[in-house]
Amino acid sequence: MGKLNFIREELETLKAAGLHNVIHEIGSAQRAWIMANGRRVLNLCSNNYLALADDRRLVDAAKEALERYGAGPAAVRSIAGTLTLHRELEEALAHFKGVEAALALQSGFMANIGVIQALMGQDDEIFSDELNHASIIDGIRLSKAHVTRYAHADVSELQAKLNASSRKRKLVITDGVFSMDGDIAPLKEIADAAEKFGAIVMVDDAHGEGVLGRGGRGIVDHFELHGKIDIEIGTLSKAFGVVGGYVAGSAALIEFLRQKARPFLFSSAATAADTAACIAAVKILESDDGAVKKLWENAVYFRGKVHELGYDTGRTGTPITPLIVGDAEKAKRLSSMLFKEEVFAQAITYPTVPKGKARIRCMVSASHSKGDLDFAVDKLKKAGKELGII
Ligand SMILES: Cc1ncc(COP(=O)(O)O)c(C=O)c1O
Repeated sequence: MGKLNFIREELETLKAAGLHNVIHEIGSAQRAWIMANGRRVLNLCSNNYLALADDRRLVDAAKEALERYGAGPAAVRSIAGTLTLHRELEEALAHFKGVEAALALQSGFMANIGVIQALMGQDDEIFSDELNHASIIDGIRLSKAHVTRYAHADVSELQAKLNASSRKRKLVITDGVFSMDGDIAPLKEIADAAEKFGAIVMVDDAHGEGVLGRGGRGIVDHFELHGKIDIEIGTLSKAFGVVGGYVAGSAALIEFLRQKARPFLFSSAATAADTAACIAAVKILESDDGAVKKLWENAVYFRGKVHELGYDTGRTGTPITPLIVGDAEKAKRLSSMLFKEEVFAQAITYPTVPKGKARIRCMVSASHSKGDLDFAVDKLKKAGKELGII
């Protein structure tokens, strides 16, 4: 197959550059300790912030829905109809986020792609933080709109670029919490700048939900910006513990997306089981902020401990705890030494983070006990000293 040789060559190039991703195989539910590659290890990799992925209430809701509605949705919602469960989930999400309406989609990735492409076209301009998530970047590409990137979290630069724009329709997009660094976008200042220049504001709250705001209501609630942010994107695969994505905003926006968003119109919906589990997750968050509190207790405790060891956690302000090592090879060696010591914490290297900024990204969750975190800290001390990182 000569015509496919380039694939093999490219794979070899990735391996030679140390950028070939080897994926661990997980043989258990997502919780503090999991089976990875056949070994029992402490899980510091998952986005299961609130320990809901394995919560009995979600599992039972999924089972019940599976029995009642069957396994598959059978077609896209605009053709085969919307399950009662999809409507219930959307109403629950809208209530939780304090907006008029929400639209559930198959993933957060789909939500970003669907919204950006539906709203923006080639005559429009999108202002995008340079560290925004890949799904935002792809959504922008699909929209064919003119794209203007601004330096990470730099509102002065954003303002200057908005000021220089003569396009009629402008959209500012930012991640709420940046997934590789854990820092929080200056959303109030961004919203003020957008308001000044008549730009629409969209925030991707994938790592803010379940984490920031009252009871995990997200970044808009955290900064008390209700009514000031036009579009919120969410994922149901992180703090909510299941899978799926959604858009939250005005009733008109959501109705527009039902008519125009291509992932809604041309791809089958989430299953009844997933949707019921998501509803159960939202209900838990509505009624009990215990897991959010535990998450933050753990995050603050762990960050304090790794600082004491001398690790550089960069600019994080959330439970995402990067341990910045710098050299990619060293970060990978740290990750594999930790794995041998029963701690699963992945190395993140270029191009996911800039060259020279390789790191181990530790995801602390409400599922961890203090003992688990102490265990990780102990192993981080041993491996970090051995590699001369701390
Ligand atoms: C900021 C951000 N947006 C969107 C997504 C995509 O979410 P999902 O996994 O639901 O597709 C992610 C997940 O990696 C993310 O970190």
